[in-house]
Amino acid sequence: MKVLVTENGVHPCGVELLKKHFDVDCRDSTSVEELERIIGEYDAIVIQAFTKVPRSVLEKAEKLKLIARAGTGLEHVDLEYAKKRGIVVKNTPQANAVSVAELTFGLMIAVARKIVSADAYVRSRKGWDRPSYKGIELFGKTLGLIGFGNIGRLVAVRANAFGMKVVAYDPFVPAGEMKQTGVTRIGELDELLSASDVVSVHVPLTDETRHMIGAEQFGKMKPTAIFINTCRGAVVDEAALAAALKEGKIAGAGIDAYEEEPPLNSPLLELENVVLTPHTGGITKEAVERMSMQAAEIVIDFFTASKS
Ligand SMILES: NC(=O)c1ccc[n+]([C@@H]2O[C@H](COP(=O)([O-])OP(=O)(O)OC[C@H]3O[C@@H](n4cnc5c(N)ncnc54)[C@H](O)[C@@H]3O)[C@@H](O)[C@H]2O)c1
Repeated sequence: MKVLVTENGVHPCGVELLKKHFDVDCRDSTSVEELERIIGEYDAIVIQAFTKVPRSVLEKAEKLKLIARAGTGLEHVDLEYAKKRGIVVKNTPQANAVSVAELTFGLMIAVARKIVSADAYVRSRKGWDRPSYKGIELFGKTLGLIGFGNIGRLVAVRANAFGMKVVAYDPFVPAGEMKQTGVTRIGELDELLSASDVVSVHVPLTDETRHMIGAEQFGKMKPTAIFINTCRGAVVDEAALAAALKEGKIAGAGIDAYEEEPPLNSPLLELENVVLTPHTGGITKEAVERMSMQAAEIVIDFFTASKS
């Protein structure tokens, strides 16, 4: 069996495990053109965030049975055509969920306590203006989660520890399941938006969720609200978010994912009341190793099961 690891973002620990079972080739990165040329040799490929696997690649994948994504997003793979060809596509959605939940809180606290601008102020040696950096506590505030899956739930558990009241909007999760984490289900998105002091989105990017948070939704939030997005950029209308921040419709935002990455032309770059990170929610030492090991295990389990 031949396995191709298409990019160097896949941590070596998983690659070493694969090498114990398969003939493994590794590349630092693999363009679509290269993949079209070489894919015919491989039974499985392990990809990370950057490898694109469109139909043109899959059409040439004569032996390919499995695509394992070390990580969550599968936007770069033509899933429909892979299914048609009987090629199994798997990812490791649990592997970086804790890391994303922790960054969600990192952003929440950074915005609530103005940590980034306070740090720049201290370094500027311009004086000792403490009142300008007065923040707010999270304790006693209402956190509204949009999406209550792997990451939403982990954020809720952490919010409980902070003494926040947690409400969630997710049409696909029943109230009883939310209650187990002390979370109150809200049936209407608008109701969650107007009730929350912090709104945090944790939905997948689909046709339905694209731009689900725009001018209308920001208009329903409290002027004191903090908005956090650590899911996918296109879930939020970024221009509307920038306008809402500028016009004081909301107080601040913490953003890890952008409509265009890198967000070179984003209006968010000009604003002070927003803390920005470069889509690093799922990138910690632990998560990167976990993603790689789990992707390797997916490949091993797949071929072990198909032998028996
Ligand atoms: N920032 C990062 O580095 C990073 C890393 C990993 C995952 N993510 C992203 O985080 C998001 C959440 O990941 P997850 O693992 O929790 O996914 P998940 O599939 O476990 O949970 C998503 C939840 O959203 C709900 N949902 C779907 N459509 C909805 C809608 N229209 N309204 C409300 N809820 C809806 C689903 O029912 C589900 O419970 C994804 O977009 C994922 O790509 C980001």
